[in-house]
Amino acid sequence: MRVPTILRATDVPLATFASTHKASLLAQALLHGAVLLRGWPVGVTDLETVRDAFGLDDFPYFGGAAPRTRVTGNVLTANDAPPTEPIPFHHELAQARARPSHLLFYCDVAPTRGGSTDLVDSRALARYVAKEHPRVAARLDEGVRYTRVLPPVDDPCSPIGRSWRSTYGCDTRAQVEAKLRYEGTSFEWWDDVLWTRTAPLPAFRHDPVRGDLVFSNAMLAAHKGWNDARNVGTKSVSYADGTPVDEAFLDDVHAYAVRRQYRTKWEKGDVLLVDNAVTMHARSPFEGPRRILTLLCAQHKEA
Ligand code: FE2
Repeated sequence: MRVPTILRATDVPLATFASTHKASLLAQALLHGAVLLRGWPVGVTDLETVRDAFGLDDFPYFGGAAPRTRVTGNVLTANDAPPTEPIPFHHELAQARARPSHLLFYCDVAPTRGGSTDLVDSRALARYVAKEHPRVAARLDEGVRYTRVLPPVDDPCSPIGRSWRSTYGCDTRAQVEAKLRYEGTSFEWWDDVLWTRTAPLPAFRHDPVRGDLVFSNAMLAAHKGWNDARNVGTKSVSYADGTPVDEAFLDDVHAYAVRRQYRTKWEKGDVLLVDNAVTMHARSPFEGPRRILTLLCAQHKEA
């Protein structure tokens, strides 16, 4: 993908800089996929102020697979999945009905081995799929369904180990069933384990500003990464009629995404603004310390 815009610190505090230039910064995030803000003296407690300065609201984390810990306010750890587990390309909350418009990532502790946050332009993926896989693209116009099996309590050994209680913010089966029915998600109980399959969700969308076609989904992440004691990634993505999406197609699109990716090599204090409508992100495995935080954001209507 195009390299994200990289801006280096000025004498102006980051929140002031972001507030002054928010329209331009959000436009650059859309054009280039992301904006990396480097070198500002930013601490964890500044992050919500920085988000506000961009004119962005909090977006609640609901329905996602990634295990996360609340650090302060609406600041979450980016992903508590074991460091050995890659987290393949996805749009944040692509498998949910609503998704954040932007993500703010913050590097609290830079990794020393691996651990890049990788970005790819989903508009380029859409063009590639339309050109190289027109038959699959036509089937995907009917939507894509995600199958996931959720444990009753969080499983820290799994990259998608959020329990159904955490995922849906529910304590009882009746509460979670009401939410699943509202979403149109099919489900079964296997003792206290919950099997789910979403209603068909869009595989492609148009970006809300320019209208470009976007390969906007979590198919690659599910196919490559939804593996644990309960889930098999290769069985987690299906067409609208329930048949599995062709593996060769997903392998080829994944390989294309890797060829086009931009790898963010973190430095302490980095703030990365990602446009979640047009850009997928991924996490490389790592060794040693690494602490990346995130804020899920919703754009003001007037912004
Ligand atoms: Fe993510």
